[in-house]
Amino acid sequence: MNLDNLINLSYIIASVLFIYGLKMLGSAATAKRGNLISAVGMLVAIVATLFYRGMSYQWIIAGLVVGGTIGAIAAQRIKMTAMPEMVALLNGFGGIASLLVGWAEFYNRPTSPTFTLVAISLAVLIGGITFSGSLIAYAKLAERMDGKPHLFRGQQIVNSALVLGALALVAVFAHSGDLAAAALIALIVLSLVLGVLAVIPIGGADMPVVIALLNSYSGLAACAAGFVILNNVLIVAGALVGASGLILTSIMCKAMNRSLSNVLFSGFGAVTATGAAGSGEQQGEANPLSVQDAYYILEAARSVIIVPGYGMAVAQAQHVVRELGELLEANGAEVKYAIHPVAGRMPGHMNVLLAEANVPYEQLVVPEDVNPVMTTVDVAIVIGANDVVNPAAREDQGSPLWGMPIINVDLARTCIVSKRSLNPGFAGVENPLFFKENTRMLFGDAKKSIQALVSEFKDA
Ligand code: TAP
Repeated sequence: MNLDNLINLSYIIASVLFIYGLKMLGSAATAKRGNLISAVGMLVAIVATLFYRGMSYQWIIAGLVVGGTIGAIAAQRIKMTAMPEMVALLNGFGGIASLLVGWAEFYNRPTSPTFTLVAISLAVLIGGITFSGSLIAYAKLAERMDGKPHLFRGQQIVNSALVLGALALVAVFAHSGDLAAAALIALIVLSLVLGVLAVIPIGGADMPVVIALLNSYSGLAACAAGFVILNNVLIVAGALVGASGLILTSIMCKAMNRSLSNVLFSGFGAVTATGAAGSGEQQGEANPLSVQDAYYILEAARSVIIVPGYGMAVAQAQHVVRELGELLEANGAEVKYAIHPVAGRMPGHMNVLLAEANVPYEQLVVPEDVNPVMTTVDVAIVIGANDVVNPAAREDQGSPLWGMPIINVDLARTCIVSKRSLNPGFAGVENPLFFKENTRMLFGDAKKSIQALVSEFKDA
C-alpha cells in the first residue's frame, strides 16, 4: 500500500470514529466516551496529515507551540461559568482559520480551476461571518456588550444588499480575472461586516439559536476549506459539524417555539412589550421565606421537581443541589431534575453541570415530561433559573417571551425560587412567577441557600 492510500485509509478510520463519537454524544450516559472517541479520530487524522509529502514542519511546530500554549493556558484559567463565552470564541477561531486557509491558498495557486476558486470564496465568506459574528456573541455572553437586540432603520435592507454584494464578489472572484485579488479582499471585509450586522439584532432569549447556527457555520467553512485543499477528512469533519449544528439550531428553535426566519429577522425584544410582564413594573408583593421555612415545606413534600438555570452555574451550586436531592429522596420524596433546552448559556449547560455533580441520568427530565403532571407536584425548586420558568410566556401576549415553552413551575402546589433578587434574567423580562400566591422567594446566593437547607436536613 502506498503512502497516499495509507493516509486515505486513516482518514476513513478517523471519519468513522467521528460519526460513532457523534452518535454517542446523543445520550448523556455515553457522551463522555463519545467525546473521547471523536478526539482519537482527530488524533488519527492529524498524525496521518503530518505524513503528507512536502510538509513545512517548522511552521507546524511553531503553530503547535504558540496555539497549544495559548489553548492550554486559556483552558486552565477559564472558569466553568465562562465556558459559553469560550465556546463562542472557539467557533469564531474555527471560522477565521478557514478564512485564512482560503486566502493563503489563493496566493499559493492564483490560477486555480473555477471549482477551487468558488470553494475559496465560500471558505472566506462563511469563515469571516462566523468569526465576527462569534466575537459579537462572545461579547454578549460575557456581558461586555448589552444583550439586547441592536436595530437601526433599514437594517434588513442593508443586510440583504450586503448578501447580494457578497454573491457578486464571489462571482467576480471565481471568474479569475485581474480583479480577483481585489474581489477577495473586498469579500473578506464584507464577510466581517456581515457577521457583525447579522448577530447584533439578535438578543435576549434568541441567543441559543445564534450560537448553534454559528457553530454550524464554522463547520461549513471548514468543509469549504477542505474542498480548497482537497483534504477528505476536513470535508467530512466540516460537514458533520455543519449538519449537527443545523440539527441543534432546529432543536433550539423548537425549544423556543420560533421559526429560524423569525429569530433571524424579527429582533427579539425589539417590539415594545405591552403586558405587565414586559412593562418593567413590579407586579405585586413577593413572599420571601427563610431557610428554615423552606426546610419545613420540603420536609413534608412527597414529590419535588428541581429546575436549574444559569444562576446555578454562577453559584456553582450543582454539588449541593445534588446533595439536597439525595436528602429529599432519603426523606421519602420522589425527586426529578427538569432541564429546559435553553437553560444556562450554552446548549447542554445544565446537563454538563449535573453530570459533573454525579446526578443520576435517570432523574433528568425534559419540560414535556413534567409539565403535564406539574399540578400534582408538591414542590418545584427553581435554582437560579428565570426566563425558562417565566409564566408570561404562557399568560401575556404582549411579552417578548410569548409562545416560548417554559417549565410550568407556577402550577406546582408550592414553588420555591432561589435567587439573589427580583432582577430579570438574560432576556431582561420581568417575571410574574415571583409574585404568585404559591411562590416563595429564597433570596441569596444559590450555593449558600441550598447549603443551609442541606444543613437543616442533616441537623434534623
Ligand atoms: P436566566 O433567565 O438568565 O436567569 C438566571 C438567574 O440567575 C438570574 O435572574 C439571576 O437572578 C440568577 N442568579 C445569578 N447568579 C446567582 C447566584 N449566585 N445565586 C442564585 N441565583 C443567581 O437563566 P435561565 O432561566 O437559565 O435562562 C437562560 C436564558 O439565557 C434564556 O433567556 C436563554 O435564551 C438565554 N441564553 C441561553 C443560551 C443557551 S444555548 N442555553 C445561550 C445564550 C443565551 P439574581 O441576579 O436575582 O440572582
